[in-house]
Amino acid sequence: MNFVILRFDQLGSTNSEALEQAKRGADEGLCVIARRQTAGRGRHGRVWNSPPDSGLYFSLVLRPVIEARFFSLLTLMAAAAVCDTLRELYSFEPDIKWPNDILAGGKKICGILAEAADTDLGWAVILGIGLNLKSDNFPPEIAVAATSIAAETGRPVDLEILLPKLTANISKFYKLLQGENGIENIRNEWARRSSYNEGKDVRVILPGETIIGTTCGLEENGALRIKQPDGEIRIAQAGDVENLRQVS
Ligand code: BTN
Repeated sequence: MNFVILRFDQLGSTNSEALEQAKRGADEGLCVIARRQTAGRGRHGRVWNSPPDSGLYFSLVLRPVIEARFFSLLTLMAAAAVCDTLRELYSFEPDIKWPNDILAGGKKICGILAEAADTDLGWAVILGIGLNLKSDNFPPEIAVAATSIAAETGRPVDLEILLPKLTANISKFYKLLQGENGIENIRNEWARRSSYNEGKDVRVILPGETIIGTTCGLEENGALRIKQPDGEIRIAQAGDVENLRQVS
Protein backbone atom coordinates (compact mmCIF):
# COMPACT_ATOMS: atom_id res chain seq x y z
CA MET A 1 0.00 0.00 0.00
CA ASN A 2 1.18 3.48 -0.80
CA PHE A 3 0.88 5.61 2.35
CA VAL A 4 0.44 9.37 2.05
CA ILE A 5 0.39 11.17 5.39
CA LEU A 6 -1.53 14.42 5.93
CA ARG A 7 -0.56 16.12 9.19
CA PHE A 8 -2.70 18.66 11.03
CA ASP A 9 -2.09 20.60 14.24
CA GLN A 10 -5.74 20.32 15.16
CA LEU A 11 -8.84 18.64 13.83
CA GLY A 12 -12.29 17.82 15.15
CA SER A 13 -11.68 14.15 14.42
CA THR A 14 -9.10 12.55 12.13
CA ASN A 15 -11.74 9.94 11.24
CA SER A 16 -14.13 12.67 10.07
CA GLU A 17 -11.40 14.33 8.00
CA ALA A 18 -10.37 10.98 6.44
CA LEU A 19 -14.02 10.23 5.70
CA GLU A 20 -14.40 13.58 3.90
CA GLN A 21 -11.23 12.90 1.92
CA ALA A 22 -12.51 9.42 1.00
CA LYS A 23 -15.82 10.91 -0.20
CA ARG A 24 -13.81 13.34 -2.34
CA GLY A 25 -12.01 10.38 -3.93
CA ALA A 26 -8.89 9.88 -1.81
CA ASP A 27 -6.93 6.76 -2.63
CA GLU A 28 -6.42 3.89 -0.26
CA GLY A 29 -3.40 4.62 1.91
CA LEU A 30 -4.22 8.23 2.76
CA CYS A 31 -3.46 8.75 6.46
CA VAL A 32 -4.67 11.70 8.49
CA ILE A 33 -2.93 12.53 11.74
CA ALA A 34 -3.48 15.44 14.10
CA ARG A 35 -1.56 16.65 17.14
CA ARG A 36 -4.87 17.21 18.87
CA GLN A 37 -8.56 16.44 18.31
CA THR A 38 -11.36 18.62 19.59
CA ALA A 39 -14.10 16.06 18.89
CA GLY A 40 -12.29 12.72 18.96
CA ARG A 41 -14.72 9.83 18.74
CA GLY A 42 -14.59 6.42 20.39
CA ARG A 43 -16.72 3.32 19.94
CA HIS A 44 -20.39 3.37 20.93
CA GLY A 45 -20.61 7.16 20.54
CA ARG A 46 -18.10 7.86 23.30
CA VAL A 47 -15.67 10.78 23.38
CA TRP A 48 -11.99 10.02 22.76
CA ASN A 49 -10.03 12.40 24.94
CA SER A 50 -7.33 13.85 22.63
CA PRO A 51 -5.10 16.51 24.24
CA PRO A 52 -2.14 17.92 22.25
CA ASP A 53 0.70 15.47 21.55
CA SER A 54 -0.56 13.01 24.15
CA GLY A 55 -1.71 10.40 21.68
CA LEU A 56 -1.27 9.29 18.14
CA TYR A 57 -4.55 10.28 16.50
CA PHE A 58 -4.40 8.44 13.22
CA SER A 59 -6.96 7.58 10.52
CA LEU A 60 -6.31 5.56 7.39
CA VAL A 61 -8.46 5.36 4.26
CA LEU A 62 -8.92 1.78 3.04
CA ARG A 63 -10.83 0.56 0.00
CA PRO A 64 -11.04 -3.13 0.81
CA VAL A 65 -12.02 -5.67 -1.82
CA ILE A 66 -13.43 -8.13 0.72
CA GLU A 67 -17.20 -8.60 1.23
CA ALA A 68 -18.76 -5.93 3.45
CA ARG A 69 -19.86 -8.58 6.01
CA PHE A 70 -16.16 -9.09 6.77
CA PHE A 71 -15.31 -5.42 7.32
CA SER A 72 -15.36 -6.13 11.07
CA LEU A 73 -12.15 -8.10 10.53
CA LEU A 74 -10.38 -4.87 9.54
CA THR A 75 -10.44 -3.79 13.18
CA LEU A 76 -9.06 -7.18 14.28
CA MET A 77 -6.33 -6.78 11.69
CA ALA A 78 -5.50 -3.29 12.96
CA ALA A 79 -5.36 -4.58 16.54
CA ALA A 80 -2.84 -7.25 15.52
CA ALA A 81 -0.77 -4.60 13.70
CA VAL A 82 -0.73 -2.28 16.74
CA CYS A 83 0.21 -5.20 19.00
CA ASP A 84 3.18 -6.15 16.87
CA THR A 85 4.28 -2.52 16.60
CA LEU A 86 4.32 -2.15 20.39
CA ARG A 87 6.11 -5.44 20.90
CA GLU A 88 8.72 -4.83 18.19
CA LEU A 89 9.53 -1.22 19.16
CA TYR A 90 9.00 -1.14 22.91
CA SER A 91 9.46 -4.76 24.00
CA PHE A 92 6.27 -5.21 25.98
CA GLU A 93 3.69 -7.87 25.34
CA PRO A 94 0.26 -6.33 24.78
CA ASP A 95 -3.06 -8.17 24.95
CA ILE A 96 -6.15 -7.53 22.82
CA LYS A 97 -9.50 -7.27 24.57
CA TRP A 98 -12.17 -8.27 22.07
CA PRO A 99 -12.65 -6.81 19.62
CA ASN A 100 -9.88 -4.26 19.45
CA ASP A 101 -8.81 -2.64 22.70
CA ILE A 102 -5.07 -3.01 23.10
CA LEU A 103 -4.05 -3.51 26.72
CA ALA A 104 -0.69 -3.24 28.44
CA GLY A 105 -0.57 -4.64 31.96
CA GLY A 106 -4.38 -4.89 31.86
CA LYS A 107 -4.80 -1.17 31.09
CA LYS A 108 -5.98 0.29 27.79
CA ILE A 109 -3.22 1.77 25.66
CA CYS A 110 -4.99 1.95 22.29
CA GLY A 111 -8.50 2.01 20.86
CA ILE A 112 -9.62 1.44 17.28
CA LEU A 113 -12.69 2.82 15.54
CA ALA A 114 -13.49 1.65 12.01
CA GLU A 115 -16.19 3.44 10.04
CA ALA A 116 -17.46 2.44 6.59
CA ALA A 117 -18.91 4.77 3.95
CA ASP A 118 -20.26 4.17 0.46
CA THR A 119 -18.43 6.63 -1.83
CA ASP A 120 -18.46 7.25 -5.61
CA LEU A 121 -15.48 4.92 -5.80
CA GLY A 122 -17.21 2.17 -3.79
CA TRP A 123 -16.87 1.25 -0.14
CA ALA A 124 -14.27 3.05 1.92
CA VAL A 125 -13.38 2.04 5.45
CA ILE A 126 -11.75 4.55 7.74
CA LEU A 127 -9.53 2.87 10.27
CA GLY A 128 -9.07 5.20 13.23
CA ILE A 129 -6.38 4.43 15.78
CA GLY A 130 -5.96 6.30 19.05
CA LEU A 131 -2.71 5.23 20.71
CA ASN A 132 -1.76 6.77 24.05
CA LEU A 133 1.76 8.22 23.87
CA LYS A 134 1.95 9.71 27.36
CA SER A 135 -0.21 9.69 30.47
CA ASP A 136 0.28 13.25 31.86
CA ASN A 137 -3.01 14.57 30.53
CA PHE A 138 -5.32 11.67 31.37
CA PRO A 139 -8.38 12.94 33.22
CA PRO A 140 -8.80 11.13 36.59
CA GLU A 141 -11.61 8.84 35.35
CA ILE A 142 -9.39 7.58 32.53
CA ALA A 143 -6.12 7.46 34.50
CA VAL A 144 -7.15 4.40 36.53
CA ALA A 145 -7.87 2.24 33.49
CA ALA A 146 -5.45 3.59 30.89
CA THR A 147 -1.75 3.56 30.20
CA SER A 148 0.60 4.91 27.52
CA ILE A 149 3.80 3.99 25.74
CA ALA A 150 5.79 6.50 27.84
CA ALA A 151 4.34 5.08 31.07
CA GLU A 152 5.21 1.52 30.02
CA THR A 153 8.73 2.25 28.77
CA GLY A 154 9.77 5.30 30.82
CA ARG A 155 10.79 7.03 27.58
CA PRO A 156 9.15 9.58 25.29
CA VAL A 157 7.90 8.33 21.93
CA ASP A 158 9.51 9.23 18.63
CA LEU A 159 6.66 9.41 16.11
CA GLU A 160 9.08 9.23 13.21
CA ILE A 161 9.97 5.71 14.37
CA LEU A 162 6.48 4.69 15.46
CA LEU A 163 4.60 5.73 12.31
CA PRO A 164 6.65 3.82 9.71
CA LYS A 165 6.55 0.66 11.85
CA LEU A 166 2.79 0.97 12.36
CA THR A 167 2.04 1.53 8.67
CA ALA A 168 4.33 -1.35 7.67
CA ASN A 169 2.54 -3.70 10.07
CA ILE A 170 -0.90 -2.54 8.90
CA SER A 171 0.21 -3.11 5.32
CA LYS A 172 1.43 -6.63 6.16
CA PHE A 173 -1.84 -7.70 7.82
CA TYR A 174 -4.03 -5.97 5.22
CA LYS A 175 -2.28 -7.98 2.52
CA LEU A 176 -2.81 -11.13 4.55
CA LEU A 177 -6.53 -10.34 4.99
CA GLN A 178 -7.06 -9.81 1.28
CA GLY A 179 -5.00 -12.83 0.22
CA GLU A 180 -5.92 -16.50 0.00
CA ASN A 181 -7.69 -17.74 3.17
CA GLY A 182 -7.31 -14.17 4.43
CA ILE A 183 -10.46 -14.19 6.57
CA GLU A 184 -9.31 -17.27 8.46
CA ASN A 185 -5.70 -16.11 8.63
CA ILE A 186 -6.59 -12.78 10.25
CA ARG A 187 -8.82 -14.47 12.82
CA ASN A 188 -5.93 -16.76 13.69
CA GLU A 189 -3.44 -13.90 13.94
CA TRP A 190 -5.85 -12.04 16.23
CA ALA A 191 -6.45 -15.16 18.34
CA ARG A 192 -2.70 -15.69 18.82
CA ARG A 193 -2.40 -12.22 20.31
CA SER A 194 -5.53 -12.13 22.48
CA SER A 195 -6.14 -13.84 25.80
CA TYR A 196 -9.84 -13.16 25.21
CA ASN A 197 -10.16 -15.64 22.36
CA GLU A 198 -10.65 -18.75 24.46
CA GLY A 199 -11.42 -19.61 28.07
CA LYS A 200 -11.80 -16.09 29.46
CA ASP A 201 -14.61 -15.51 31.95
CA VAL A 202 -16.34 -12.37 30.77
CA ARG A 203 -19.35 -10.16 31.08
CA VAL A 204 -20.39 -8.76 27.69
CA ILE A 205 -22.54 -5.68 27.83
CA LEU A 206 -24.81 -5.34 24.81
CA PRO A 207 -27.55 -2.79 24.21
CA GLY A 208 -30.36 -3.99 26.50
CA GLU A 209 -28.64 -7.22 27.56
CA THR A 210 -25.65 -8.59 29.45
CA ILE A 211 -24.14 -11.99 28.68
CA ILE A 212 -22.01 -13.76 31.27
CA GLY A 213 -19.92 -16.76 30.29
CA THR A 214 -16.62 -18.05 29.01
CA THR A 215 -15.21 -17.07 25.63
CA CYS A 216 -14.90 -19.85 23.05
CA GLY A 217 -13.45 -18.42 19.86
CA LEU A 218 -14.66 -16.21 17.07
CA GLU A 219 -17.34 -16.53 14.42
CA GLU A 220 -16.33 -16.23 10.76
CA ASN A 221 -16.79 -12.43 10.83
CA GLY A 222 -14.92 -11.96 14.10
CA ALA A 223 -17.95 -11.91 16.41
CA LEU A 224 -17.20 -13.33 19.88
CA ARG A 225 -18.60 -16.70 20.98
CA ILE A 226 -19.49 -16.96 24.67
CA LYS A 227 -20.49 -20.19 26.40
CA GLN A 228 -23.02 -19.50 29.14
CA PRO A 229 -23.06 -21.55 32.36
CA ASP A 230 -26.09 -23.47 30.97
CA GLY A 231 -23.99 -24.51 27.95
CA GLU A 232 -25.73 -22.27 25.42
CA ILE A 233 -23.38 -20.48 23.02
CA ARG A 234 -24.17 -16.82 22.54
CA ILE A 235 -22.67 -14.56 19.86
CA ALA A 236 -21.69 -10.94 20.49
CA GLN A 237 -21.40 -8.88 17.30
CA ALA A 238 -20.46 -5.71 19.17
CA GLY A 239 -20.36 -4.62 22.76
CA ASP A 240 -18.13 -4.02 25.70
CA VAL A 241 -16.35 -6.90 27.33
CA GLU A 242 -15.26 -7.00 30.94
CA ASN A 243 -12.86 -9.56 32.27
CA LEU A 244 -14.75 -10.99 35.24
CA ARG A 245 -11.56 -11.82 37.14
CA GLN A 246 -10.69 -8.13 37.09
CA VAL A 247 -14.00 -6.70 38.18
CA SER A 248 -14.98 -9.24 40.84
C1 BTN B 1 -12.36 3.27 21.22
O1 BTN B 1 -13.44 3.67 21.67
O2 BTN B 1 -11.65 2.49 21.88
C2 BTN B 1 -11.90 3.72 19.86
C3 BTN B 1 -11.14 5.01 19.94
C4 BTN B 1 -10.63 5.49 18.59
C5 BTN B 1 -9.99 6.84 18.68
C6 BTN B 1 -9.33 7.25 17.40
S1 BTN B 1 -8.25 8.65 17.60
C7 BTN B 1 -8.10 8.76 15.87
C8 BTN B 1 -9.46 8.51 15.28
N1 BTN B 1 -10.26 9.73 15.24
C9 BTN B 1 -11.32 9.65 16.04
O3 BTN B 1 -12.17 10.55 16.20
N2 BTN B 1 -11.36 8.46 16.65
C10 BTN B 1 -10.25 7.61 16.25
